[in-house]
Amino acid sequence: MTRLAGRVALVTGSLRGIGRAVVDRLHADGASVVVSDVDDPHGDAALAISDDLPGARYLQLDATSETAWQAARDRVMRDYGRLDILVNNVGAETSSPVQDMDLAEWRRMMAMNVESGFLGVKTFQPLLAQTGGLTPCGSSIVNVSSMMGLVALPNTSAYSTAKGAVRLFTKSIAVEFAKAGVPIRANSVHPGYVDTGMLRNGLSRVAAQSGIDSDALVAMTEQCVPIGRMARPGEIAGVIAFLASDDSSYMTGAELVVDGGITAM
Ligand SMILES: NC(=O)c1ccc[n+]([C@@H]2O[C@H](COP(=O)([O-])OP(=O)(O)OC[C@H]3O[C@@H](n4cnc5c(N)ncnc54)[C@H](O)[C@@H]3O)[C@@H](O)[C@H]2O)c1
Repeated sequence: MTRLAGRVALVTGSLRGIGRAVVDRLHADGASVVVSDVDDPHGDAALAISDDLPGARYLQLDATSETAWQAARDRVMRDYGRLDILVNNVGAETSSPVQDMDLAEWRRMMAMNVESGFLGVKTFQPLLAQTGGLTPCGSSIVNVSSMMGLVALPNTSAYSTAKGAVRLFTKSIAVEFAKAGVPIRANSVHPGYVDTGMLRNGLSRVAAQSGIDSDALVAMTEQCVPIGRMARPGEIAGVIAFLASDDSSYMTGAELVVDGGITAM
């Protein structure tokens, strides 16, 4: 498929997990992809990118650092002179009863999930707006929230608060840009349980805390999903690629839930 031919995309946190599936998908759809992550550019995963995805470039970007974002913007300007698609994928999860939640951990949740996307949007808005004026349907921001940005579970106040903020940040910028005639659409995606390192680590931690066998907890988690299993990262990436493309040209400020039916119950 070549629906993204000629487009340039930057995806944060894209060496692994959902982000990696997104860069694979955008590349397959014809985009020039900037793979970005906090990892050293000389690490194995970063070095493998140019072989795995011909034409793609790796950019070291700690998405919580404003100076790193500014350097990324300068590099994208120099290398491509445009940005059509920004996927703010970086995030982190935690779990704790609220009375035991460390303030530093609470702030880390806000930095990783909310500030990272804010910095990306703030820094790249002028280039996205300029590029959006060159294409029929404008440029596209996709912010990765979670089903936990829509509903609550016990012991997830920090993560849910952060992901709920991602949802409303997205709606706020969507109407701000649309009303001002700025050609940038912005939408959020709300995955359920996705089989990545983040979920596996989180389940192992919860299993250890509660004295449950880790495999048993995975099975219990899957039983909570109407579809009966976790998502594969590519199943989230396909939805993000849709929002990145002109196929979603009339969508802005929307939230797409990709959770196997959990929040429908
Ligand atoms: N996995 C799930 O079940 C699930 C469900 C709902 C939402 N999400 C959200 O999807 C997004 C991706 O999650 P995932 O499961 O793929 O995570 P993951 O932990 O498997 O991968 C995250 C990637 O981000 C990178 N990273 C970490 N800190 C970074 C930083 N400061 N700057 C740049 N890169 C950084 C990591 O190196 C890694 O490559 C997150 O926002 C997460 O909250 C995940």
